[in-house]
Amino acid sequence: MGLLKSLFTNCANPQGRMGRAMLKFMNLCHAPLTNWGLSHIEFEDGWTMLDIGCGGGATLRRLLKSSKDSFVYGIDISEESVEKARKVNAELLDERVFVEQGTAEKLPYENGQFDLVTAVETVYFWPNLLNCFGEVLRVLKPGGRFAIMVEVVDASSTWTNLVDGMKAYSPEQLQQMLEDAGFVETEIHRKKPSYATILGTKR
Ligand SMILES: C[S@@+](CC[C@H](N)C(=O)[O-])C[C@H]1O[C@@H](n2cnc3c(N)ncnc32)[C@H](O)[C@@H]1O
Repeated sequence: MGLLKSLFTNCANPQGRMGRAMLKFMNLCHAPLTNWGLSHIEFEDGWTMLDIGCGGGATLRRLLKSSKDSFVYGIDISEESVEKARKVNAELLDERVFVEQGTAEKLPYENGQFDLVTAVETVYFWPNLLNCFGEVLRVLKPGGRFAIMVEVVDASSTWTNLVDGMKAYSPEQLQQMLEDAGFVETEIHRKKPSYATILGTKR
């Protein structure tokens, strides 16, 4: 149990050898949720997009393929995640893919820079979610969308017991927080077993 707990606690901020193993694992096992979540977005060519808590960078690759001539940015608090995401996107790194270390609470981007912001399996770890959502709103263009994808939606789940510092929210709680932060046209999409995508738009 100790080993399992320390392995899974690397979901919150991947570090060292176990962190690298976890990033590989997450790039694979988050694919079904991410592909389904992104199916709710009507992509257009030439978008500029940001993935917060980008982990091992698989979502950055997906975003890049979804919009021709696009630019994608990734940010993550973990140095290990940044390194892995850079490797996974090495072909277009610093040309169309940009990855840096940083936090959702203080995004190092200009106002109104992005057409789409995504957050896959990461909001559980963000401190002061409402502030973070305010930051996302700030960096979106008017009409830009924010897509949150989660599969842990139950506060008393095995996952929140296993991963230190993890907090689960119901899709309805996340939707309410998006609205409180100023997002409009919010939507919840759900799929079995517990996938949820919560969308909001900047007015
Ligand atoms: C469970 S992993 C998910 C990674 C990736 N999105 C995926 O789907 O595979 C959570 C990621 O969020 C990052 N993270 C945690 N707190 C963060 C914060 N406050 N700001 C930015 N990234 C954060 C972690 O370092 C980790 O890489």
